[in-house]
Amino acid sequence: MAPPEKMHRLHLHLAPLLFTLLASLPHYCKPQSDAYFRYSSCAPKPYHCGPLQFDIAYPFSVDGVDRPDYCSVPGYLLSCTDGGKLVTTMNSSGGGPFQVTGVDYGNRLLTVVDEGLAEHTCPQPYRNATFDGAMFAYTDRDQFLTAYVNCSASSSSLPFASDFFSCLSGGRSYYALDNGTVAPDVPGSCSSTLVLPCSSAMADSLAAGNSTFGDVIRGGFAVRWKAGAGWCGDCRNSGGFCGYNSSSPSDHTCFCPDGTSIGSCCSGMFCLSFGIKLI
Ligand SMILES: *[C@@H]1O[C@H](CO)[C@@H](O)[C@H](O)[C@H]1NC(C)=O
Ligand SMILES: *[C@@H]1O[C@H](CO)[C@@H](O)[C@H](O)[C@H]1NC(C)=O
Ligand SMILES: *[C@@H]1O[C@H](CO)[C@@H](O)[C@H](O)[C@H]1NC(C)=O
Ligand SMILES: *[C@@H]1O[C@H](CO)[C@@H](O)[C@H](O)[C@H]1NC(C)=O
Ligand SMILES: *[C@@H]1O[C@H](CO)[C@@H](O)[C@H](O)[C@H]1NC(C)=O
Ligand SMILES: *[C@@H]1O[C@H](CO)[C@@H](O)[C@H](O)[C@H]1NC(C)=O
Repeated sequence: MAPPEKMHRLHLHLAPLLFTLLASLPHYCKPQSDAYFRYSSCAPKPYHCGPLQFDIAYPFSVDGVDRPDYCSVPGYLLSCTDGGKLVTTMNSSGGGPFQVTGVDYGNRLLTVVDEGLAEHTCPQPYRNATFDGAMFAYTDRDQFLTAYVNCSASSSSLPFASDFFSCLSGGRSYYALDNGTVAPDVPGSCSSTLVLPCSSAMADSLAAGNSTFGDVIRGGFAVRWKAGAGWCGDCRNSGGFCGYNSSSPSDHTCFCPDGTSIGSCCSGMFCLSFGIKLI
């Protein structure tokens, strides 16, 4: 990470360069006042749900917010609860809901907390985090820990997870920082064995004794969405908004100021150099 003042300098140097580049772009790459309607309708829309402020943009739609369906991908649905929590099922049947605590379009990351676990100290039934693996994937920011809930025997080697499964007072619940490789010394028979995703940073903090098991679960984990992988960044960097064509779902639909393109808005030398300079 560059120190802040260094990043500032970088911006100052880039600003005239970007201005020159923008000014030299051909006419069809400039935003126009009579812009293409799909381009205008799919512009990111600022939204807030409780304390969370973010833009509604591809691939997401938000329940109750009126946006054309060509701006989002089916299944990537978020909802704001009456209590001001942004939630999603991540298209899982039976899993979730997950509370969304962060949306990062640049890295295609959602930070989520498994509500079923975090909201109830006595989750019934105990279950692993599940989501639609065709739409989301774990990232290298995640790690896994195994929880042994309500076991019949004591463990001398595993730490207690009693701050979390507090409903089982007197019950024996443990966790292992084994990254999901389920430890061999299972303490007798347990009501459930769970493999729980968490952020690696929180797992490190737990290992260092700076956090409790409950902190780690309530800290959530990150998932990367698959929609737009490999092209949506190019579309946005070229000045477009990513979109979805239900008659041709696998198309890399990019809405540009002057119409729909495939992949990105601009072709030719100017846009090529524009893209490279931006990255
Ligand atoms: C969502 O889940 C359902 C049921 O598992 C599945 O049929 C569908 O293909 C998934 N994806 C989308 C985009 O809805
Ligand atoms: C959770 O996943 C682990 C590993 O895949 C499995 O051994 C365990 O039975 C699962 N637990 C539940 C409650 O589904
Ligand atoms: C905990 O384990 C005991 C003994 O096996 C069982 O009777 C009880 O139902 C379990 N509690 C939960 C919440 O799973
Ligand atoms: C944890 O396991 C995953 C695969 O299950 C692996 O990609 C990741 O590198 C592992 N992380 C650590 C810190 O060992
Ligand atoms: C744990 O806390 C100590 C003291 O605040 C800090 O120096 C250390 O970096 C922390 N470790 C982790 C992994 O968070
Ligand atoms: C959607 O895809 C169909 C079939 O390929 C195509 O005819 C149509 O023009 C596309 N719509 C848009 C808005 O690009």
